[in-house]
Amino acid sequence: MPDPIACIEDLRAAARRRVPRMFYDYVDSGSYTESTYHANEADLRQIRLRQRVGVNIDARSLETVMAGRKVAMPVALAPTGLAGMMRGDGEILAARAAQRFGVPFTLSTMSICSIEDVARSVPSPFWFQLYVMRDRAFIEQLMQRAASAGCTALVVTMDLPVGGQRHKDVRNGLSTPPRMTLNNLLNMASKPAWTWGMARAKRRHFGNIVGHVKGVDDMSSLASWVRDQFDPTVTWADIEWIRKRWNGKLILKGILDTHDALRAVDAGADVIVVSNHGGRQLDGAVSTIEALPSIAEAVGERVEVWFDSGIRTGQDVLKAVALGARGTMIGRAFLYGLAAAGEAGVRRSLEIIAAELDTTMALCGYADIGAVGPEILASRGFAQS
Ligand code: FNR
Repeated sequence: MPDPIACIEDLRAAARRRVPRMFYDYVDSGSYTESTYHANEADLRQIRLRQRVGVNIDARSLETVMAGRKVAMPVALAPTGLAGMMRGDGEILAARAAQRFGVPFTLSTMSICSIEDVARSVPSPFWFQLYVMRDRAFIEQLMQRAASAGCTALVVTMDLPVGGQRHKDVRNGLSTPPRMTLNNLLNMASKPAWTWGMARAKRRHFGNIVGHVKGVDDMSSLASWVRDQFDPTVTWADIEWIRKRWNGKLILKGILDTHDALRAVDAGADVIVVSNHGGRQLDGAVSTIEALPSIAEAVGERVEVWFDSGIRTGQDVLKAVALGARGTMIGRAFLYGLAAAGEAGVRRSLEIIAAELDTTMALCGYADIGAVGPEILASRGFAQS
């Protein structure tokens, strides 16, 4: 583990030192002007908590249930593409850290390690995230592969029918494996520990796709396949189609509007994730914490409501729970740990969030995360206006 690490921000700084620029930038960026990316964190920070004293908070518990799974705290690892470029075999390392900690891991469609790689390497079931692509036979095949690998939940991401642009990725010429431009070569040469780890990794391209789709054998054909395949025609009828074919829990991610939340309930979701993709899609969209209370109110107890985008501390998790989230997902917070120190770094990111959540809950006068509600908030900042 590099230097003393006190908080997620320290892991971010360590990640920046260890990983080539194009992959660090891929994580630490939002789409276009990055206004929604920054609003997610800023709006969470504006919320004020009520400090309570004189309550016995000795025996505390963060345990709860997410999608029928007992979890050590209401936090799951969000699906993130290219995690295996932050660190060689990154998805396997993150899945191991999550399972040892007692929280769920979600494997992205756009992962480097494949579903089968991860299933072979970790003892317990994990979740699989699906992007709906034009090639529906491939989607069915992916769902079957996830079911065969023992995945208990399918996370369908709905907020990427077309891709928002991250300017840094364009400037850096992001590709996997990295394009051998002079800049990239120089940058990789300055990150020897990363380069050495990647040289020994199982894979350096999209493991769920290459070799499973006819005509996609190398990266140049893959790039055009991804561009052509992300499906702008996806509607709720497709979600109903998926629901009929998936027997496990169905989690719909990328809901930011109450109407869509209600539609998701009708389509058969077990869980909805209030998410704007970490500010990587619709720039100018509201922050997720602003959207959360009305969505939670609209759907009531009909489905579980989860929250992501902007969580960097345990305080953020507590605020989301107070505003109606049964669970949360973290993306960058664990990716920084992964990039900085592999499995130990992901474990550290989870330890940090759990400790912050535990102490903050205690200082609000609560001993059980299940009992936390809006009464722990002194003010909602933006949401009060
Ligand atoms: C993502 N996200 C994402 N979501 C998804 O459904 N499939 C994916 O492949 C990816 N890839 C991805 C890569 C990177 C680098 C990031 C940062 C995010 C979105 C992710 O699941 C989650 O919604 C956000 O990361 C949550 O925001 P925070 O926690 O990163 O602020």
